Amino acid sequence: MSEQTAAHRAAMPAVVNPILDRRTVENGNRNLLKYLKPGLSVLDVGCGSGAITRGIAERVGPEGRVLGIDPSEKLIEQAQQQHGDLPQLAFQQADLFSFETDERFDLVTCARVLQWLAKPEEALIRMKALLKPGGVLAVLDYNHEKVEWQPEPPEAMKRFYAAFLQWRQDAGFDNAVADHLEALFRSHGLTGIIVEPHFETSRKGEPAFAVASRIWSEVAEIRGPQLVKDGYIAESEREAAIATYDRWIAETGESMQLYLLAVEGRRS
Ligand SMILES: C[S@@+](CC[C@H](N)C(=O)[O-])C[C@H]1O[C@@H](n2cnc3c(N)ncnc32)[C@H](O)[C@@H]1O
Repeated sequence: MSEQTAAHRAAMPAVVNPILDRRTVENGNRNLLKYLKPGLSVLDVGCGSGAITRGIAERVGPEGRVLGIDPSEKLIEQAQQQHGDLPQLAFQQADLFSFETDERFDLVTCARVLQWLAKPEEALIRMKALLKPGGVLAVLDYNHEKVEWQPEPPEAMKRFYAAFLQWRQDAGFDNAVADHLEALFRSHGLTGIIVEPHFETSRKGEPAFAVASRIWSEVAEIRGPQLVKDGYIAESEREAAIATYDRWIAETGESMQLYLLAVEGRRS
């Protein structure tokens, strides 16, 4: 499929997206905590609505500098409105593939973005080039093929999920990108590579279970209309996936686990 299809499918739908706003650097990007210290310069690639970026900026303090970039005009607007109060934090509407700057950063972070890019290797080359010598590239991403539910989710949600993965794969996205990052980092000469599991597990009985496990109903609500439009699933199947999965959460669901890896390496 064309680059245009990939860009179109990667684009965040212009609807309220509660998933991004719930994240913080502590709950959604804690692999960064070991690097963040006052005075650091950080580029957050694909910063979304800036919720994680804000936490990064608070940790690097007023002597630091944090820039969040994202191609979505709406998300950058939202980020500026919600987090524009910190002087060390700036947001810019930009696509990584056309972003130009003379600035070089101590840390370039990219969380949950490569899963939406048909050319993750080109993205990695670009991000490496934006580092100062000795700077760290930190990527956090999914292997969507390794999601786990206990017990199995309803058939309608399994169908939606399979359609979602197919729709992504047909656009050139790597559903298993997390497990391919280490090799990519090595082949591009990053050194001191660290690979850490950052699985996100929610279990029945925990206060967050209903909200965290509902991510798949939210995906069906937010991304699902695109799948229907592209002919991967019928509208009635999308609706059934949401209704039956919400019942699964309330009645039979025990746990849901997202598989993410954090991979970091230094530019020598
Ligand atoms: C799933 S969101 C992740 C947001 C945030 N990093 C987080 O972890 O919550 C993926 C983000 O990547 C952005 N994105 C997609 N293609 C991009 C590109 N070519 N360059 C930069 N960001 C991109 C999307 O607009 C979206 O905001």
